[in-house]
Amino acid sequence: MFPEHRPRRLRTTPAMRRLVSETTLRPRQLILPMFVAEGADQPRPIASMPGVVQHTRETLRKAAVDAVRAGVGGLMLFGIPAKRDAVGSAGCDENGILNVALRDLRAELGDDTVLMADTCLDEFTDHGHCGVLDEHGGVDNDATLKVYAEMAVAQAEAGAHMLGPSGMMDGQVGAIRSALDTAGHVDTSILAYSAKYASAFYGPFREAVDSQLKGDRKTYQQEPGNAREALREIELDVSEGADAIMVKPALSYLDVLRAAAEVSPVPVAAYNISGEYSMVEAAAANGWLDRERTILEVLRSIRRAGADMILTYWATEASAWLD
Ligand code: PBG
Repeated sequence: MFPEHRPRRLRTTPAMRRLVSETTLRPRQLILPMFVAEGADQPRPIASMPGVVQHTRETLRKAAVDAVRAGVGGLMLFGIPAKRDAVGSAGCDENGILNVALRDLRAELGDDTVLMADTCLDEFTDHGHCGVLDEHGGVDNDATLKVYAEMAVAQAEAGAHMLGPSGMMDGQVGAIRSALDTAGHVDTSILAYSAKYASAFYGPFREAVDSQLKGDRKTYQQEPGNAREALREIELDVSEGADAIMVKPALSYLDVLRAAAEVSPVPVAAYNISGEYSMVEAAAANGWLDRERTILEVLRSIRRAGADMILTYWATEASAWLD
């Protein structure tokens, strides 16, 4: 043994541990995903995500103000429409719930936060897929790009600063970038969901947005065992003009996140998704885990793996715990 080698010296007091801590976790690095439901007259609890609700327009506004006051870096908005159809029309409609809510929040918050929108069709289609279908029932990549382009322009016009294409269609970043530029929205940025896996951990989210999906998303989302493919997706998205990229989910993909952070020339986000949230909440509710410590460890681990920013349903609450 070499008793002179004593790493524990750096763990002796809280002040010493604070001095040598490697990973920062700040409110500005957290992005709060929020749900708003058309026609809701009061917030609707999401049973599988205790503490998260589908907001009304009014409660969304209040919760958004609270989040920004707590110091979060941004808000990511998802809309739940009253009516769905095969092509997700409500996503492009300027009076669709997501676009109306973006307008509400931009009017309320101006440039005080980074307002983001989910640019994807799954909340708006009656079949629940992230794109439009071809005659065989498969998701039609190129037809979907046209709808994304229209949706992106509508979201930029409604006041989004940053768009989050999450549908994993090939060429989606390029299609959205050129539609935004043509419409004069050259300053609207794109946070590309570049490496998004076909994950079982999205389960609770499907309830959160009343998803109509039967089947799965394996023809467009990535196979959980593949890592190399993620780097290819990232490279393509950056070449198409992504301003930031994302790895999603976070916890089962920390290796992918680390690899992404090592090569990405743009900021890297990770989405601490619904199932990751619900697991901790369920265990904490049973007294099996210390809730606050677990949440902070989860978020710090995602930062340590290389995320510059983290989408998390705990963003507002965790911000209050950070110094
Ligand atoms: C698709 C989308 C999903 C999530 C965010 N955007 C669901 C999916 O791909 O099935 C999941 C987020 C979460 O689980 O917290 N628009």
